[in-house]
Amino acid sequence: MTIDIISGSTVPGLAAGIARHMGVVAHYPSITKFPDGEIRIIEGDYTPSETVAYVQTMHPHPNDTLVEMQITVDLLKELGAKRVIAVVPYLGYMRQDARHVQGEAISVRTVLKTLDFVGVNDIVGVDLHLHRLGQAELESFCKIRIHEVSAMDLLAAKAGKKLSKPLVIGPDAESERWAARAAELLGTDYDVLEKTRISAKEIRIKPRKLDANGRDVLIIDDIVSTGGTIMEVIRSLKAQGAGRITVACTHAVLSDIDTLTGLFRAGMGEFIATNTINNEFGIVDVSSIIADKIKEIT
Ligand code: R5P
Repeated sequence: MTIDIISGSTVPGLAAGIARHMGVVAHYPSITKFPDGEIRIIEGDYTPSETVAYVQTMHPHPNDTLVEMQITVDLLKELGAKRVIAVVPYLGYMRQDARHVQGEAISVRTVLKTLDFVGVNDIVGVDLHLHRLGQAELESFCKIRIHEVSAMDLLAAKAGKKLSKPLVIGPDAESERWAARAAELLGTDYDVLEKTRISAKEIRIKPRKLDANGRDVLIIDDIVSTGGTIMEVIRSLKAQGAGRITVACTHAVLSDIDTLTGLFRAGMGEFIATNTINNEFGIVDVSSIIADKIKEIT
């Protein structure tokens, strides 16, 4: 079966990589903006195959990328695609999965419902932020089948090359599955910290004695956004005499202008991430694991 790989505007290189692993060439629709900022998609005389995989990550500009995805998927369905697999390597709005104050929107539900409405049949995401809601709960919001692949093996292998038997640290309970896996692969030990989020930017990490003195450390997490979480962890590790500290994450959101400078200032030696988001740190390529998942589900 031929599966077309169609690229949105955000990660065209990743789309090309996925296509290469699938033995096809990616298709790039015309994506422009009207002077007022509205998005315009043109497919020309392109006729999609029955099954298509549309590749669009949700950073930067989560709202624009979402609208672009909605318009494109709707168009692909209109042009004849029967099954649209939305490959959304970084699925935004996943952290808005609970009502923290009265009347707050559970936005991830809205996002999934709208993608369902325009015709998305499957979502393939990388290291989904399944902290409070599980995959089954997300699927209960819509008719979309949700599939997850993990970049943690690739990240651990890359980071592990330069570290000697590092202590692997997960910043919070939710990251335990990734810290444990990375430690297993590197044949070393891991620990998980206790984090309390006070606000989007203020984090508290419960102080605890770690076996970090003189050791290399690999901190592993799904997202680095403001960097607040990792900065607190680095400070605590440095205070306990840690050696080289590498931070590895799947999605380098890096939302603040001083996220990276803050991390390096705190004592981070190296930062590595995947190409789910297009930036200079995305050196771990997830195209093969996404292509394998597409092959598995089609
Ligand atoms: C939280 O549950 C996530 O796994 C990350 O730890 C978090 O999103 C990182 O955010 P920030 O970099 O803003 O602290």
